Order: sequence, then structure tokens, then C-alpha cells
Amino acid sequence: MIQLHDLQFEPYLSEKEINEAIDKLAEQLNRDYEGDTPVFLGVLNGAFMFASEIIKRFKGDCEVSFVKLGSYEGTRSTGDVKTLLGLNQSLKGRRVVLIEDIVDTGNTLEEINEILKKEGVADYKVLTLFFKPEAYKKSIKIDYKGMEIPNKFIVGYGLDYDGLGRNLTEVYKRKEQ
Ligand code: IMP
Ligand code: MG
Repeated sequence: MIQLHDLQFEPYLSEKEINEAIDKLAEQLNRDYEGDTPVFLGVLNGAFMFASEIIKRFKGDCEVSFVKLGSYEGTRSTGDVKTLLGLNQSLKGRRVVLIEDIVDTGNTLEEINEILKKEGVADYKVLTLFFKPEAYKKSIKIDYKGMEIPNKFIVGYGLDYDGLGRNLTEVYKRKEQ
């Protein structure tokens, strides 16, 4: 058990389970983008650890870029997504792979969708390590999902609770009272 601020969390996914999910995703990406030079577009802060791991496993040429968005306060999505750091390169005509740590309500994804539509990308796919199907309210297709998880608040592997927990190499879930 671990404590972050006022909440307790219990072990949920091991590093081995996470790595196996990432290996599978990498296999698919290496197959689907063979011979292309995709742009991996990570969503900060949460996706930094997953982005690093998945990009290390990509065998071809690629570029890496990041945007920063935020909507979460504590353990809840506010629904109001803010762009904190925008795109600093043109994605026109490029194949883009959006890298998310987790897709929850889909609000963040919808916001990025709007940004990318204006960019005139050749195509773009959504890659997320974790997906909460019960919380998802949008219709944007999630092309690559590492793991589907129940609608519980998790931390670790890049995900935080009010800034803490991002460094944990395993995933913990909020302890039920
Ligand atoms: P959405 O906009 O509701 O889909 O939420 C997406 C963002 O909220 C993610 O990129 C995370 O940064 C954050 N988030 C969603 N669920 C969790 C969670 O269970 N733990 C920590 N952060 C989360
Ligand atoms: Mg995030």
C-alpha cells in the first residue's frame, strides 16, 4: 500500500504486465508503420513514461513531439481541457500517432482532434496505454489500446494524483473505503 497526499493506493498492475502490453502495441506499430516516418505526438505530462517505452521499441525512422494539455483536478476530470503547450512543428501531410497515457472521458482526445484537423495531417491514429471504456463518452476511434481498465482512479507509470506518483514503475489503484 502507498499513500499520496490524503489518499491510499494499492498495487494493481505489475511492471511485467505493463511491459507485455507495450510489447504487443510495439509489434502492431512496427507492422503498421513499416517504411513510413511517423510523428509520435505525446500528450504531457502523463504520457512521458509510456511514450519513452513505446518509442524505444519502434524500429524505423520517426519523429517525436509533445503537446501539453490538462483537465484533471485531483481525481476528477473537470471537462474543461486547456492547451498548456501547443504544437511547435507543422504536421501537414504527416502520419501522426497520438500517444496518451490514459483515455478516460475522451475530453482531451476531442480537443487534440480539433487541433489535428486544422493541421492537415495525412492520417492520425490514437495510441493509449490505458483505456476506461465505462468512462468514455466520445466516438473518436481508439486505434491502439494497451489495457482496458475499470472506471477506477489509478496512479503510476506517468499518471499522477495531484502531481505525485508519476515516477512509480507499477500502477496502483485507489483503495476502496
Ligand atoms: P480525459 O480527458 O477525461 O479522457 O482524461 C484524460 C487525462 O486525464 C489523461 O491523459 C490523464 O492525464 C488524466 N486521467 C484520467 N484518468 C486518470 C486516472 O485514473 N489517474 C490519473 N490521471 C488520469
Ligand atoms: Mg494526460
